[in-house]
Amino acid sequence: MTAVGIDAIEIWTGKLSLDLPETFAPAKGEDPEKYTKGLGLKTSSFPDTYEDIVTMGANAAKRLMDRKGLVPEDIGRIDVATESAFDNSKPVSTYIAGCLEQVYDDDFHHANKGERKFACVAGTQSIDDAYNWIRAGRHRGRSALVVATDTALYARGDPGEATQGGGAVAMLISEEPSLVELSPEQGYGSADETDFLKPNQQFPSVDGKRSMQVYLARMREALTDFESVAWDTHPDDFAYIPFHTPFPGMVRKAGLLGYRHMIRDTEIEEDLASEIGRQPREEAFDDRESYEEAIRGYMDDLSGTDTYREWYGAAIEPTLALSRRVGNWYTGSVHVARASALQHALENDVDLEGSKLLVGSYGSGAQAEMHAETVRPGWAEEVAALTVDEQLDRRYDLSYEEYERVHDSHNHDLNDDIEAFTQPDGEFVHTGWGRMSERQYDYVE
Ligand code: CAA
Repeated sequence: MTAVGIDAIEIWTGKLSLDLPETFAPAKGEDPEKYTKGLGLKTSSFPDTYEDIVTMGANAAKRLMDRKGLVPEDIGRIDVATESAFDNSKPVSTYIAGCLEQVYDDDFHHANKGERKFACVAGTQSIDDAYNWIRAGRHRGRSALVVATDTALYARGDPGEATQGGGAVAMLISEEPSLVELSPEQGYGSADETDFLKPNQQFPSVDGKRSMQVYLARMREALTDFESVAWDTHPDDFAYIPFHTPFPGMVRKAGLLGYRHMIRDTEIEEDLASEIGRQPREEAFDDRESYEEAIRGYMDDLSGTDTYREWYGAAIEPTLALSRRVGNWYTGSVHVARASALQHALENDVDLEGSKLLVGSYGSGAQAEMHAETVRPGWAEEVAALTVDEQLDRRYDLSYEEYERVHDSHNHDLNDDIEAFTQPDGEFVHTGWGRMSERQYDYVE
């Protein structure tokens, strides 16, 4: 079977940054360690006043097309995944295609365009759609452009304000991909949940603590569903496990849960038994409550073992480096986690070709998806081309008062007109609104 997967990836960060422990925490009267140690975050990215989900997505897509030497007729689909859309009818992909048509001779008139919505899991769903389109043989040799773009803002004063961010990830889905091949096997955990939603409103209604429980419950279901069609996973099977990362502290919990699941009935559980005992089995308990209490005790002990810490340091920690610097990018977040892990491998001369990743995506409302990916021979060259670190270093560092103004400038009810903090340079910018309230964009040389 021909390999289908991610051929190339480009990341575009919002150009502003907010230092959470140094700037945000003191202004909120909070302990900076809530951010560094608890949530695991250092800075969040924010779009400058001339940036939005269209400019960030189009800029990432243009960079990807230029680097791969593509022209519009090479692209048969443009799917945008976002939960920050500003229009209930016209998809963001049409705006992004319109931007790109300003700079390329050709057009995208024969590309299928759409917008995918299921909170943060929509980016992975768009990859899935592209995979199926190629597998079905309907692509005419062309590739799909998937753009996950979000401005993750919460209402001022909401606890979610600690976990904001903004940026875009563009991915090219092709046959014989350079970066990773996707497994045909997938697992789902999906249920009607009311944990995080935006009922015709810009900023989410969130039950933060519940959203964390729902994330873990759906992720666990997705893993067992994946195993039912793939194989019984073992920690040694995967070089890295990138999870959806709303903030690294969430992944700390997911990693522990996943590890406990994967080591059950393995030699790792046996080897750890003399140190922390074997995992509690539900059938040995009279009721669910006492079983859950025993499980919590086992998990606490497990998290303190060297065996677990070493695995976490190798398979999970490297996926979090970028997230600590950018915050939550919603649909792009799990794809940033994958990129972070691959960058770590490149920097540490890890021979990754043929290794497997287990990718855990999640969207509130709620659905988790798990699949495996196999790293392809061209991965190192692709990852070496990423400029995300330089972009992050160049961001403008906001004061708290500036942050408040930036938040207002992106608030659809206010749209406060404030001076930009950075200068656009070779990129698409948002210039204003047209007569039908459509957003307008220009390319700035
Ligand atoms: N030193 C060390 N740790 C500290 C600390 C300190 N001084 N102060 C607090 N902490 C720890 C807390 O113990 C907590 O860690 P644990 O959960 O491991 O106990 C962590 O820092 C956060 O502290 P709080 O729980 O007090 O923080 P909070 O009340 O402000 O809420 C939040 C945190 C619920 C994540 C909130 O920011 C939120 O609602 N965020 C948006 C929702 C979200 O991201 N949910 C994630 C799952 S849903 C999802 O993934 C989809 C999505 O992208 C939105």
